[in-house]
Amino acid sequence: MEKLFAGILESVKNMKRYKAGKSINEVKREYGLDKIVKLASNENPLGPAPEVIETIKSEAANVYLYPDSDSRDLKELLSQHYNLPAERIFIGNGSDEILDLLMTLLLENGGQVIQGDPAFIKYELAVKSRGGESIKVPLDDNHRHQLDKMAAAVTEDVKVIFICNPNNPTGTMLSREGIEDFLEDISDDILVVVDQAYIEYITSDDYFDGVELLAHYPNLFLMRTFSKAYGLAGMRIGYALGNARLIDYLNRIRGPFNVNRMAQQAAVTAFEAEDHLKKCQELNKTEKEFLYKEFSEMGLEYIKTETNFMMVDTGLNAVEVFKELQQKGVIIRPGNQFAMESWIRVTIGTREENEFFLKKLKELLAERRN
Ligand SMILES: Cc1ncc(COP(=O)(O)O)c(C=O)c1O
Repeated sequence: MEKLFAGILESVKNMKRYKAGKSINEVKREYGLDKIVKLASNENPLGPAPEVIETIKSEAANVYLYPDSDSRDLKELLSQHYNLPAERIFIGNGSDEILDLLMTLLLENGGQVIQGDPAFIKYELAVKSRGGESIKVPLDDNHRHQLDKMAAAVTEDVKVIFICNPNNPTGTMLSREGIEDFLEDISDDILVVVDQAYIEYITSDDYFDGVELLAHYPNLFLMRTFSKAYGLAGMRIGYALGNARLIDYLNRIRGPFNVNRMAQQAAVTAFEAEDHLKKCQELNKTEKEFLYKEFSEMGLEYIKTETNFMMVDTGLNAVEVFKELQQKGVIIRPGNQFAMESWIRVTIGTREENEFFLKKLKELLAERRN
């Protein structure tokens, strides 16, 4: 098969696959533990609304039928909510799929993409898988995107700029004005993707929504997901709002039935379950304040977050902390994956989960001091 393999892009041969953490069951088995708290992937600790689970159950009987190829029910709902024509809405198998499709569409003949560093790991994977090149612009001292430097990094070959807002892994976000000024400066030959996976968790007033700007900036592309605040990560469903012509092209290259039946219906119910969303937002707000207080008392530096996760500096090697916490039944994400060698990223859980995590972290730090 050498000839066949020779045709594969060099960038794919050189890339490393996405490393997901161990599953709860794997960690249980490996360390003989009964209790595991997983705070590694920014999932919603309250799960979906109860009525969403009912919807999924009732839709289960229909899975012998293909899903609606156009996710019409969900698109209609989003269209009304955002006051946007359905042609401006794209539904994907998670935002991950939307990222891949965008890169397939825009980087077919190579090209460059600008992103913050660190930002969501998937951006670079999607770019490399199409033979594109990522230009990474470091975050500033406050762990924020430097939009002026990103604008200055634009070359003839740049097709896309990613703004992860709020940013994964740092949890920081940019002001509305900052992004609006940036859009004004960037040529409409470059797509500006604002990834808003965590928008529902923002507590600051000065946030960028962007929907009302879509009419003004044809190159603005907003990505949102049901994986986080709506508690549907396992369903795989996300959406984008943007230029109708771009979305038409995305529809041409996607799988005809890219979003499964249960995900479509679950998303409709989840979007309407506003009380549950509020409950999740309130819990996250309370618990982030709780973690701020605890980290301060422990003398640990942390980054204030606008998401459902946060970065904290343990002062120790992140991989070691990750392994030791895992042995104690807590799964987090080590910061070395983002070149933050002594930091860990922890998802904000329920009070019980957060207390369990803090107890294990305190134990670990005490062991290291002895
Ligand atoms: C910034 C960001 N964008 C997109 C995603 C992917 O979301 P989805 O589950 O919709 O593929 C994530 C998931 O962690 C994320 O952190």
